[in-house]
Amino acid sequence: MKVLVTGGAGYIGSHAVKRLLAAGHKVVVLDNLFRGHREAVPQGVPLEEIDLRNTDAVTNTLTHHAIDCVMHFAALAYVGESVQQPLNYYDNNTGGTVGLLTAMRRAGVRRIVFSSTCATYGEPEKMPITEETPQRPINPYGWSKLFVERILLDEAAADAKFSFAALRYFNVAGSAEDGSIGEDHAPETHLIPVLLNAALGKVPKVTIFGQDYPTPDGTCVRDYIHVQDLADAHAIVMDALAPGDRRFYNLGIGRGHSVREVIDAAKKVTGVDFKVETGPRRPGDPPMLYANADKVHRELGWKAKLTDIHHVTETAWRWFKNHPNGYQSP
Ligand SMILES: NC(=O)c1ccc[n+]([C@@H]2O[C@H](COP(=O)([O-])OP(=O)(O)OC[C@H]3O[C@@H](n4cnc5c(N)ncnc54)[C@H](O)[C@@H]3O)[C@@H](O)[C@H]2O)c1
Repeated sequence: MKVLVTGGAGYIGSHAVKRLLAAGHKVVVLDNLFRGHREAVPQGVPLEEIDLRNTDAVTNTLTHHAIDCVMHFAALAYVGESVQQPLNYYDNNTGGTVGLLTAMRRAGVRRIVFSSTCATYGEPEKMPITEETPQRPINPYGWSKLFVERILLDEAAADAKFSFAALRYFNVAGSAEDGSIGEDHAPETHLIPVLLNAALGKVPKVTIFGQDYPTPDGTCVRDYIHVQDLADAHAIVMDALAPGDRRFYNLGIGRGHSVREVIDAAKKVTGVDFKVETGPRRPGDPPMLYANADKVHRELGWKAKLTDIHHVTETAWRWFKNHPNGYQSP
């Protein structure tokens, strides 16, 4: 299949590109490089440096490369930033996807796999989170993605041959096991990279936000899914999409790790006893978030394999150790 990967120069998109190439698909990357890296796109893979909102240019790209399916990762993805700049999030994530879907309609491309998020669920009362858990986002980032889910449903209702899957990821972590690509975000807000930056001495200390949560060790619990497992899921879901399909899946490992557990893993893997301090809770941080990912297992046979937090951290460390300045490392 010929796949357009939007956001393919970013963290998750670049791992999906690697996975698609390994499966023999042809890939084209579309990325405005606002937060992506040219170096993350393998040689030989065309990189179309285009903004999602440039509908004419996206239409031309889809037509020119005779694209069969779109994997849509391109988005802004910082919760805090979305609270400060809500309009940017709605414009880029929601408006950008409307632009992309318009281009797909014009070019006759009717299959899309969309990066949604567990942030669409907000702060659910019951764990684990299933696909039936009510979606009540608590920030503009979550809303910008939930609106896209709604728009996809409406587009599918208007075109019987249009098919989509919205994949609601939990906390994506780790790097390609061969160390070739990895996570390079600026600013970096994800827990494992922050810990690894502390181990590299790039940040003086790590702060745990709240240690009085109703969890086994008092720190927040999250579901960390390895980026390679996530990429596998995308390939499997894409292959399964038939005209008219509307699929929603949670992608997580089905259980959580506490902040303290992840810190212990990072110290063990790196061999560095970096400084950790505790601070007050952050507003909007639920004590526990973890997925029930049985639906995708039941329907498509996908299940996370790389679930050991030490191994996940080890793969991330392989990348960080060899690329202390990300893709700009010599
Ligand atoms: N990282 C996570 O834990 C996580 C969890 C849930 C969902 N997601 C979703 O997964 C997707 C990928 O996340 P990531 O961590 O790889 O982010 P990332 O920032 O590394 O990658 C996103 C890419 O999209 C590009 N982009 C953004 N807006 C664009 C636009 N208007 N036009 C063209 N390109 C644009 C950026 O330049 C970047 O390369 C996002 O949609 C995000 O919301 C991520």
